[in-house]
Amino acid sequence: MTTYAVTGATGKLGRLVLDELLLKANPREIVALARDPAALSAYAQKGIQVRAADYDDPASLDAALKGVNRLLLISGNAVGQRERQHGNVMAAAKKAGVSYLAYTSVLNAQDSKLKLAAEHALTEKLLEGSGLNFDVLRMPWYSENYVGALGPSIEHGAIYGAAGDGRLSTASRADLAAGAVGALIGSPGGKTYELAGDQAWTMAEFAAEVGRQADKPVAYVNQSEADYAKTLEGAGLPPPVATLLASTSYLAGFGELYSESKDLSTLSGKPTTPISETIAAALKG
Ligand SMILES: NC(=O)c1ccc[n+]([C@@H]2O[C@H](COP(=O)([O-])OP(=O)(O)OC[C@H]3O[C@@H](n4cnc5c(N)ncnc54)[C@H](OP(=O)(O)O)[C@@H]3O)[C@@H](O)[C@H]2O)c1
Repeated sequence: MTTYAVTGATGKLGRLVLDELLLKANPREIVALARDPAALSAYAQKGIQVRAADYDDPASLDAALKGVNRLLLISGNAVGQRERQHGNVMAAAKKAGVSYLAYTSVLNAQDSKLKLAAEHALTEKLLEGSGLNFDVLRMPWYSENYVGALGPSIEHGAIYGAAGDGRLSTASRADLAAGAVGALIGSPGGKTYELAGDQAWTMAEFAAEVGRQADKPVAYVNQSEADYAKTLEGAGLPPPVATLLASTSYLAGFGELYSESKDLSTLSGKPTTPISETIAAALKG
């Protein structure tokens, strides 16, 4: 029996990974790691083992990884703490004799100019020195990041950004979960996968598709990075978040969220979900 474990299992990606793993493995082979195991009681009822694990608590990681063979390390969300936290997971995985670890990084991590890429690049370097057998699963931006506020966009007939004509290779969380499970179950290790969506799109194409589905004209309004940060603040985002998102959008204009790789559909065994379907699902509510 192979034991598969998933960190960050309470998160939006982690839950989809558990759902996908349940289609491919016996529940007894699956271990979900969570700071709050009670949050996964529905999965425990399906026969998955749920164990307490906190990236900040090495002893909890040592206990949680006992008997685990193959581990998916989903990156944490405590920006600024993650290199250390991920290092804690690696140390525990080494002690536990984990035979394979897959880490969720970001597209083109080592060359990326995205502010959020730095911790992923450092984590990749830590993995290289860890002595573990590992793969890097470099993730694009989630398609879902773009459809959270379609109602006001349709109402005002405008979608704002700073990405110019940049092409974005986003993918849905469900597709990324399927790709991650493909790697967790079948990849030998030693690989860096760029998990881009099959079809990249521009913000102007995105706005046109939203308009088509809503049957109302919706234009893409390209702003400077500074003006887009102000637009996001005006929509209620805290200034540091607005600055980060505006920077990401601006850099997307230079291809920082783009990859031609087809690794994702290869690993998941199916074409990725087009952005039009993600828009349709969001509009249905
Ligand atoms: N590609 C993208 O567009 C994108 C966007 C946002 C984030 N991300 C990255 O991708 C990861 C997964 O995405 P997501 O949508 O699933 O994010 P999410 O819903 O915020 O989930 C984050 C997960 O990390 C867990 N976590 C945080 N700190 C932890 C700690 N100290 N110890 C153990 N677990 C901890 C959370 O556990 P709790 O339930 O206990 O909080 C949660 O399960 C994120 O954490 C982030 O690194 C990617």
